[in-house]
Amino acid sequence: MTVEDVRIIELPKFADPRGNLSFVEQLNHIPFEIKRTYWIYDVPGGENRGGHAFKQNEEFIVALSGAFDVIVDDGDKKKTFTLNRSYYGLFIPAGLWRTMSNFSTNSLALEFGSIPYSREDYIEDYNEFVKKKLDGKI
Ligand code: TYD
Repeated sequence: MTVEDVRIIELPKFADPRGNLSFVEQLNHIPFEIKRTYWIYDVPGGENRGGHAFKQNEEFIVALSGAFDVIVDDGDKKKTFTLNRSYYGLFIPAGLWRTMSNFSTNSLALEFGSIPYSREDYIEDYNEFVKKKLDGKI
C-alpha cells in the first residue's frame, strides 16, 4: 500500500432546512466490515494523536465536528488530508503510518476499524515501520 491508495470518500448528504443528515454503511461507503468504532475528542490545542501504523486494521475516519489533518506516510511519500466536513470520510488501508494533528477546538474524530482492538496490530516505531515496508513485510 502507498499513500496513493488512501482516498477521500464523499458520503450521502441530505440537505434539509431542519438540519442536514449523512450516513455510512459498511461494505458500501466504508469498504470493509466494521468491527470497531471509536472517537477522539477534547484534544488540547497543539496535540497530535495516532503516530503509528496498523499491520492489518483498515480505517475510515470522519470529522463529525470541527477539523483536523491526517498525515499518511508509506515510508517513501507523505500526504496530508484535511477533514473539515462531516460528509467526507478518509479510507486508510493497512500498512501506512498515520498521524493526526491540527485539531480545531471541539473537533470530534469518528473512526471505524476493520478489526477489534489489538495492540499486536500496532507498529509504533517509525524506523521499524520503514524497515518492514522496505522488506515487503507490510
Ligand atoms: P491509541 O490507539 O494508542 O491512540 P493514539 O495512537 O491516538 O495515541 O489508543 C490510546 C489508548 O486507548 C490505548 O491505551 C489503548 C486504548 N484503546 C482501546 O482500548 N481500544 C481502542 O479501540 C483504541 C483505538 C484505543
